[in-house]
Amino acid sequence: MAENTNGRALLTIDNLKMHFPIRKGVLRRIVGAVKAVDDVSFDIMPGETLGLVGESGCGKTTIGRCIVRAYTPTGGHILYGADDSGVDLARLEESNLKAYRRKIRMIFQDPYASLNPRMTVFDIVADPMRIHNIASGSELEDRVNTLLRQVGLRPEHMRRYPHAFSGGQRQRIGIARALALEPELVVADEAVSALDVSVRAQILNLMLQLQKDYNLTYLFISHDLSVVEYLADRVAVMYVGKLVEMAPTNELYNNPRHPYTEALLSAIPVPDPRRRSKRIVLEGDVADPANPPSGCYFHPRCPYAKERCRTETPHLRTVGPKHIAACHFAEELELTGIPPLED
Ligand SMILES: Nc1ncnc2c1ncn2[C@@H]1O[C@H](COP(=O)(O)OP(=O)(O)OP(=O)(O)O)[C@@H](O)[C@H]1O
Ligand code: SF4
Ligand SMILES: [Mg+2]
Repeated sequence: MAENTNGRALLTIDNLKMHFPIRKGVLRRIVGAVKAVDDVSFDIMPGETLGLVGESGCGKTTIGRCIVRAYTPTGGHILYGADDSGVDLARLEESNLKAYRRKIRMIFQDPYASLNPRMTVFDIVADPMRIHNIASGSELEDRVNTLLRQVGLRPEHMRRYPHAFSGGQRQRIGIARALALEPELVVADEAVSALDVSVRAQILNLMLQLQKDYNLTYLFISHDLSVVEYLADRVAVMYVGKLVEMAPTNELYNNPRHPYTEALLSAIPVPDPRRRSKRIVLEGDVADPANPPSGCYFHPRCPYAKERCRTETPHLRTVGPKHIAACHFAEELELTGIPPLED
């Protein structure tokens, strides 16, 4: 749970924009833009886990990549630091980013694709520490040893290559590498999506344990709302590059105020019949962020859409305690959530 000691967010995303140019013809002229992330704002408190959900193509990964500055955002701010040393990562020059590349690490969906098959586990985990001059020689070996133990791997396997490990073990290697620099913020992008259900639970529990041990703050990106429910303190829902709803996890799941969230929740497979609600099947695909619909971007798929939704864009507004949503009818619609998880 979030330990809000000084009341300052560790990360504040302010009107973040990431627009990719669309080029055409031999002259590669810019003819438009994919608005992958468009005016998104949220913050994450120290020690908190914020879940970021939405269907494929909504812009989740792009936000993660902006935070770790794999992309330079086209607009907005990424303020980092819960103390007075806060900086705007969106504006920082490459030469000044090194310190933040230590503090903010990313874990990826496919641990195999993100682990170099020609490097041993030792080198994979040791590499960031070598690059950042943190340790060498026997001290480095000790640190790799400790990290592997912490993620539940046997240190005597450190001379093996990634192919010798199962999917879950590879994700443990990826986590050890992410932790090697003792980060403050971990952006986990679909970190358990490729894993079998039984392994998924183990990795999620490991992430919870490591959060306690290392006092980590997580941005947990996933299209799987049941996974997010398990881990997140608060959840942000994205649709076509925009934030459409955000609330504490229980509140969002029990009392969604945006029809898109209701539809996502209705698709969660729940074995407990008391938690089952009617499945809402969304027609069509996520709108194209290069050519979004008028008014509310969700209107072509929304079962509650009215004429106003075609013409007028709904803006995020407060609809309850710590609860914001962008729907013209957020207060009047009777949407169905799912009852809380039994302990
Ligand atoms: N480098 C890029 N150049 C152009 N368009 C991009 C680029 N990266 C992402 N996009 C587009 O931006 C939109 C958002 O993509 P993004 O990968 O952030 O979505 P996502 O929510 O992570 O989806 P998924 O659940 O499939 O991982 C998509 O329409 C995608 O095609
Ligand atoms: S504004 Fe209209 S179209 Fe958009 S989510 Fe609300 S009811 Fe649906
Ligand atoms: Mg993604």
